[in-house]
Amino acid sequence: MKIFIDTANLEDIEEGLKRGFASGITTNPSLLAKEPKSSFEGHVQKIVELIRRYKPGIHLSVEVFSKDKEEILKQAQQFVSQFNYPQMSVKVQVGYNELETISKLSSMGVSVNCTACMSVTQAVMAAHAGAKYVSLFWGRIRDGGINEENAIERDYLKAKKVLDDNDFNPYIVVKSVRQILDQDRLNSEIIVGSIRSITDIRDAGLAGAHIVTVPPKFFKPMASHYKTDEVVDQFMTDFQQWLS
Ligand code: E4P
Repeated sequence: MKIFIDTANLEDIEEGLKRGFASGITTNPSLLAKEPKSSFEGHVQKIVELIRRYKPGIHLSVEVFSKDKEEILKQAQQFVSQFNYPQMSVKVQVGYNELETISKLSSMGVSVNCTACMSVTQAVMAAHAGAKYVSLFWGRIRDGGINEENAIERDYLKAKKVLDDNDFNPYIVVKSVRQILDQDRLNSEIIVGSIRSITDIRDAGLAGAHIVTVPPKFFKPMASHYKTDEVVDQFMTDFQQWLS
């Protein structure tokens, strides 16, 4: 299980990259919109510079910001020439029309990260269309099964047998996608995003995610344990006593 950093914040990216554990960075329009207003191109270029300084060659995902298939195609091609970073994937949201664009971009040699996948069928269709990565949203898949505001749509789709209870268990969704990718010998990798806790990260890895993209606030607690603090303090104390 590789760990990516899910942010557009330059300080957090630098802090993560310095520590060497990250194999990639993922951004999305909402994450970029949390940063101080500036140029989109300039900000992404700064992320590329940080990657080149600390860990050249790792993955970077940059997302399109349109729902129009022609515009998505244009933006994706612009990103490739503008950012000139060979390990960049263009994030394109899943959708029936978007699959055509994903297929076109992939056959042109553009690496596509098909994002916002919530179901097994979406991820499998994207992988067959050529997406190099399929991003499944762990927290939002789970929310889809419990949020009151989704109740009408959820009940309707369950009645039509479009979805059932398994579709709201992110562990089952990710495990099923991984099983089908392996069965079909597809080269797409699963990125799990929408992480809400450290146990989600562990469970996503165990479910078969190739990559888990993690918000920076989780990195420090991921690397810590109260029993580690306790035993390291004990080592220091015992050794000091022996020296004196
Ligand atoms: C993943 O690629 C997305 O950037 C992100 O993880 C979505 O997470 P959210 O549900 O917290 O918005």
